[in-house]
Amino acid sequence: MNNKQITLNIDKVFDFVPEKQIFSCAATAQEANLSLENGSGKGNDFLGWLHLPSSISRSVVDDIQQTAYMLRSTCEIVVVIGIGGSYLGAKAVIDALSGAFNSLTGKRPLVVYAGHNIGEDYLHELSTFLVGKSFGIINISKSGTTTEPALAFRILKKQLEEAVGKNEAVGRIVAVTDAARGALRTLADREGYKTFVIPDNVGGRFSVLTPVGLLPIAVAGINIQALIDGAVFMEKATGKDIAFENNPAAIYAVTRNLLYQQGKKTEILANFNPKLHYVSEWWKQLFGESEGKEHKGIFPASVDFTTDLHSMGQWIQEGERTIFETVISVLNANHCVEVPTDAEDLDGLNYLAGKRVDYVNKMAELGTQTAHVDGGVPNIKIELPELNEYYMGALLYFFERACGISGYILGVNPFDQPGVEAYKKNMFALLKKPE
Ligand code: PA5
Repeated sequence: MNNKQITLNIDKVFDFVPEKQIFSCAATAQEANLSLENGSGKGNDFLGWLHLPSSISRSVVDDIQQTAYMLRSTCEIVVVIGIGGSYLGAKAVIDALSGAFNSLTGKRPLVVYAGHNIGEDYLHELSTFLVGKSFGIINISKSGTTTEPALAFRILKKQLEEAVGKNEAVGRIVAVTDAARGALRTLADREGYKTFVIPDNVGGRFSVLTPVGLLPIAVAGINIQALIDGAVFMEKATGKDIAFENNPAAIYAVTRNLLYQQGKKTEILANFNPKLHYVSEWWKQLFGESEGKEHKGIFPASVDFTTDLHSMGQWIQEGERTIFETVISVLNANHCVEVPTDAEDLDGLNYLAGKRVDYVNKMAELGTQTAHVDGGVPNIKIELPELNEYYMGALLYFFERACGISGYILGVNPFDQPGVEAYKKNMFALLKKPE
């Protein structure tokens, strides 16, 4: 249990949407949250994620940890194959909680990704990199039929079997898929792969706290129990019995919908820590795929600051005033680096000597917030006490709950994704895929 918790601060929205207006929507938000809890809303056959943190069984967690241990002890490299909801959650957590240079330091196992694109050069370079190395594969596909991961798996499975023989390969492949349906389930059962089940009632983008996310995260050496504990805390903190004013997910959902109604059509998720880049990628899928339908929905965009202040900063400060910003702020850095004194001070930085780099970053964050609010960009702040497993679990669940509530307030089904099929239909026709 952590004493401090994630906080949501919407003070810098009140100049754009009065506080009173936000709190007058309490009943609407409570109703939306209640619809999630009692399964009376749209897409109610995909609500398995709602109580996933508190209901995940000890035996599943143990099984994940044992399988992760097996892969960690036998493989230098583990290739995680999956696309969309089948890889973004794992990559978000692994990138946020691993050393930035782990991949260059030889720390085992290295987790790499495939099946999230159809880049021939990417696949060639990956398979060349794997030559002569001991590698394993976690193949993740809920439907078991998605083209991108299926293609990558076919190629890498062949490479693994040719390198170590079919029997040894079977022991290094794990499939995460549907309990009974789909090509991957059939293949896994026939070949005898170790498998994990993605529950029927959990959609891809809500699956990070199932084996889809937890297995790769455990393979990367991250404490999945602490991640789950953080999510359990947030599950309780955003439940149906929590009053609107104490429910951060409900407040966030209402605030962003009111901003949207005012013409703020794009939400930019910003961070001041490059390790959070993929949290934004995960968040973009979560909200984009959940809300972008029936010709409505906030467009979810993202930036990494201060990096992107030197590229997108101009647009955010002075471009069309149709945006609002949600900043993920991490209160305390995990490491300490101080600015050294320099006798010559040619770069003029001695005024910062003895100060921590994180202090400079925090001043950049504060300065940016003021500048953007002054420039007409409402600002929502989500503060994490620090970057660790517990707060990451809480953050992911916070966004999931907020997304469910927000989608219902918007009036869409947040749990389907019919629009994703359009490109596939055309691609299959062009490829002359048999019926
Ligand atoms: O959110 C979703 O459902 C999608 O983004 C899927 O996660 C993605 O298309 C991958 O699907 P699958 O796991 O069936 O291969």
